[in-house]
Amino acid sequence: MSDIIEFFISKFRNLLVKSPQPSIYYQPRPYRNAAVRFRACSLYDFEERRRLLEECGLNIFMFPASKIAGCDLLTDSGTTAMTMEQWSQLLLGDEAYGSNEGYFDLKEQVIETFGPSWKQKSNMKQNLFIFHQGRAAEHAIFTALSSELLARGTSHARPLSNELIPELKARIENKISQSREAYFIIPNNSHFDTTEANVSSNNMVPLNLPCREHLANDEAFPFRGNINLDELKSLLANERDRIPLVYITVTNNTGGGQPVSLENIKKARKITGEYGVPLFFDACRFAENAWFIQQKEEQYKNKSIEDIIKEMFEYVDGFTISFKKDGLVNIGGGLLLKDDGLFVKAYPDIQERLTDFQILVEGHPTYGGLAGRDLKGLVEGLKTVVRAVYLEHRIRQVQRFGNKLTDYGVPIVKPIGGHAVYIDIDKFFEATGTKDEDLKGQAFTDLLLIAGHRVCELGLYAFGKYKDGKETPPDPRVNLVRIAIPRLVYEDQDLLAVAEAIKVLHDNSEKIPGVEVVYGRELRLRHFKSRFRFKDIG
Ligand code: F0G
Repeated sequence: MSDIIEFFISKFRNLLVKSPQPSIYYQPRPYRNAAVRFRACSLYDFEERRRLLEECGLNIFMFPASKIAGCDLLTDSGTTAMTMEQWSQLLLGDEAYGSNEGYFDLKEQVIETFGPSWKQKSNMKQNLFIFHQGRAAEHAIFTALSSELLARGTSHARPLSNELIPELKARIENKISQSREAYFIIPNNSHFDTTEANVSSNNMVPLNLPCREHLANDEAFPFRGNINLDELKSLLANERDRIPLVYITVTNNTGGGQPVSLENIKKARKITGEYGVPLFFDACRFAENAWFIQQKEEQYKNKSIEDIIKEMFEYVDGFTISFKKDGLVNIGGGLLLKDDGLFVKAYPDIQERLTDFQILVEGHPTYGGLAGRDLKGLVEGLKTVVRAVYLEHRIRQVQRFGNKLTDYGVPIVKPIGGHAVYIDIDKFFEATGTKDEDLKGQAFTDLLLIAGHRVCELGLYAFGKYKDGKETPPDPRVNLVRIAIPRLVYEDQDLLAVAEAIKVLHDNSEKIPGVEVVYGRELRLRHFKSRFRFKDIG
């Protein structure tokens, strides 16, 4: 009898390990729905969606979410479904104006998640700055840094060194020419749009240094989020005094949601350390990045996610984070500094400046723009996000969706990243002889919204610029549509429906009309604000 049971156990086990992709149907999700929300609209409301979309000038950000009958895949930010444990913590929120309970819980959780070197060492100066979201933390750090640099009076225009890698030099010159006599440069594997805007609005130059494999579209390379170490070294060797800080974004959202390897992080640390330049993470998707390290970097395959995260954060001096991603909450951001890190050593007054900034703009440092209950929910979210079963399910779901699109012949960025699938719009329309000015990426998102699903253009329009009567594509060129998957919200069936609607667009790509811009072409962060109209059917 026991042999028979063993027989069935081994059969069931085989169901779970079907390779190469864990199966859609045999592995249940590692959680159950505890509350659901019915849609108040129907998938069949095509004409209404068309009318509403035209009313909002084809700007998908303006489209009322309550009318999205299918999947709202505009972002994975702040869209998570919270766990029961998180909801229960919200009820325990302590709304004291100073030093609420959640603040102390968060300080402890920071050490638990990111490691002991993130403990605040001085009882005078804080190292944890809470904000209402990630971009507020970015705004704080770049404003404080630029005030600090200005106070030192170190910036004066001079030509770039001829020793720089020539191609890199040309790129920086081009960037500087777009700024107002900016002197300081902030390199990153790829800046997210708000980071880029916060750097440049403080008159510094945001510089992207994506790795070669990324630019070469190397589909076999597992860490396309890496920073280009040769360019980073050339930059620091020749322009050290222009570089107050180096950033690495994990995972690299702008570059396709691709992870950064621990080897790359370690080497970047070594290079920045040699020149005494602080290294920071934009850490929004730190746990997803750690999962990829565990899966794809041989020497980490037996390490726990928790240990990998601690090691990643050993190599940086500070980080900004939007907790709306891997904090598993709907609101919240943070800036953390290592008390004995290079950044605090280089700028001893910066914590004071940041505290002043926070009090002026967000609130007392012990709540920083969040309610006490939000902090409690965040602490619980940070505990959940590192769980191997959660990450495995989360990222495999994104990958299954991407693989389905590939089965349908839709060109996507590969390897598939952690939080989103990116459609390569240049390839999608390759056979149709489309021109850049048709903005087909935007048109794609508009038509998909009529089908009932919302995704967003992150390409020629979001990152390109219009200046002196001319459109300039982003450099390096990116022309993508991002399909971001909210955490713990959708089932495979939902995503399959999106894949099928995209297949209709792909099978009929030659019929997709272009759009023209009717408002906002020249504005900064224009994709949030512009209005369009379909070219052919105006
Ligand atoms: N950094 C990265 C890498 C991001 O992806 C985001 C936000 C931010 C910073 C800013 O954080 O939204 O809390 O202010 N990304 C969202 C997205 C908006 O849709 O990718 P925030």
